[in-house]
Amino acid sequence: MKIIDNADLTGWNTFGMRVSCACFVEYSAAEELESLWNSGGRVAGGAASASDAASLPRPFLHIGRGSNLLFMGDFPGTVFHSDIRYIEPLARPDDMGSGDRVRVKVGAGIVWDDFCRWCASCGFWGVENLSGIPGEVGAAAVQNIGAYGVEVGDVISEVECFDCVTGSKVTFKASECRYGYRDSIFKDTAKGRYVVTSVEFSLSRVPAPKLDYGHLRAAVEAAGELTPSAVREAVLSIRSSKLPDPAETGSAGSFFKNPIVPRSDYVRVASIAGLEWGESCQVPHYDAGSGFVKIPAAWLIEHCGLKGYRIGGAAVYERQPLVIVNLTGTALPEDVLAVEEHVVKSVYDKFGIRLTPEVEHV
Ligand code: EPU
Repeated sequence: MKIIDNADLTGWNTFGMRVSCACFVEYSAAEELESLWNSGGRVAGGAASASDAASLPRPFLHIGRGSNLLFMGDFPGTVFHSDIRYIEPLARPDDMGSGDRVRVKVGAGIVWDDFCRWCASCGFWGVENLSGIPGEVGAAAVQNIGAYGVEVGDVISEVECFDCVTGSKVTFKASECRYGYRDSIFKDTAKGRYVVTSVEFSLSRVPAPKLDYGHLRAAVEAAGELTPSAVREAVLSIRSSKLPDPAETGSAGSFFKNPIVPRSDYVRVASIAGLEWGESCQVPHYDAGSGFVKIPAAWLIEHCGLKGYRIGGAAVYERQPLVIVNLTGTALPEDVLAVEEHVVKSVYDKFGIRLTPEVEHV
């Protein structure tokens, strides 16, 4: 276990905010967390400053790669990071024999896209549409990451956690995680209580492509073969044409959630669009059930004329306005917040819809 005082977090948040934390703890096994919480004594291998969880600076924050976070300044407490890294196919008779399903247990600290690449190379179906999403496996299970018609909750069978209240291990079935759009109990009722230590996935050996989102089918058909690798490559190529390259431009992916609104709100937006841009202006929308409709936030932001809108070093990304970028590499948290507030106000003033951030502010 690594324990570092006054650690720099610049490389630990994909926005590239130049912030630090009072203490940074990295552990490589669930047992290390257990001993940190339960021993009350020195942690084997622990460095200088702390001997048990009670003596670490508060508050506590667990991060993956910091790909869905906006640090608003230096963090006064302890940041934890999992370095639990393994990918282990579970050799159960019903899974690994001739059956269609494959169960794979994955450490929370595995980089999400490394897992997607591994699945594609094995020919396992399930996560290929989620290729290229920044972050790690543990955070993926908290956030219920989603893209191109698939959410990770669809392929998770179990989530193993450390319970910070009882100091012991606990396993949740997928149904108990209450996965919803970018949501789970780990973000909601149980926020801060559980640390994901591993995730079990249920993948398919037999073809199970999901190609109905946008232009994905056409992109895969152009590739001429239907394999998890071909879908993965098509997804990576679509992503790179729309989203900033994390190696070059800091961001936290989609900054806002796509609003799910009563159909009457959609009718209002459509009539505003008709008056302003003519009857041929179609407002994209997707049925969300129970009289609700999902409207792409990107469309609303673009139609407020905000593509490229900039304050200080932060800007609305030109190619996908759902994303706020650290354009200069030196953007301050206040710059990002100012862009966020301007976007929310503009969309509300024009369309009467209040966008909510997907990115967590810390
Ligand atoms: N659009 C515009 N203008 C633009 C871009 C998009 O009007 O400049 C409209 C178009 O109508 C387009 C629609 O927005 O059809 C949807 O755009 P896109 O397919 O790019 O997806 P999204 O709804 O903007 C969501 C996820 C992304 C995920 C994509 C692909 C959220 C908040 N975001 O974005 O997730 O990659 O779908 O499935 O749900 C992330 O969470 O960080 C993320 C990137």
